[in-house]
Amino acid sequence: MDPRYAPPRRSLHGGGLAEGENGRADGDRREIAALWRKIYNMPDAFPVDPDFDRLFADGDRLRIGNLDVKVMLSPGHTLGSITYVVGDAIFAHDTLMQPDAGTARADFPGGDAGQLYDSIMAILDHPDDYRIFIGHDYGTKDRDEPAWESTVGEQKANNIHVGGGRPKDEYVRLRKERDKTLPLPDRMLAALQVNLRGGRLPEPEGDGHSYFKIPANKF
Ligand SMILES: [Fe+2]
Repeated sequence: MDPRYAPPRRSLHGGGLAEGENGRADGDRREIAALWRKIYNMPDAFPVDPDFDRLFADGDRLRIGNLDVKVMLSPGHTLGSITYVVGDAIFAHDTLMQPDAGTARADFPGGDAGQLYDSIMAILDHPDDYRIFIGHDYGTKDRDEPAWESTVGEQKANNIHVGGGRPKDEYVRLRKERDKTLPLPDRMLAALQVNLRGGRLPEPEGDGHSYFKIPANKF
């Protein structure tokens, strides 16, 4: 197996595998599967139930040992993005980035800049001293070192996209302009086919190997 693609997460962690199922009609895990089935033209691919043990709805709670975890749906970057809040720690997935980097892009299929703004505002609705841990950091032109932690207060004050009370319409304009300049990430179309199977490679073909299907002229 190519080590660049993750082995099934279920066997790695020994625990259940869960993903977001939005209470709203516009964004649950099944809709994500349906969206990508269409894009890949694979009508029977990505069945949700065999690969995911539990689908979370907005506001669900779960326990990790003694920790109480609150689930928030945070769509905008994708249809099913999820934020977990554990005590004063917010795991914000791809919504906010570090204050000096801004926010996640909103132009992938199922993404929406206005929805992302609303999701970010719901995250920033927590107390100022709550810590925010983000999903990606690429540094900036002024910062080489990776960073991953900030606070609600720092984000509200300094985030270059949403800080200082930037209104939604201005944010949406800025986000869309910036997204036009961003290339499709390397290997995204392959990696998604593993992600949508809960970490499994595609079913092996007759020769025992798995293959990805890549649209040649759709993106
Ligand atoms: Fe992402």
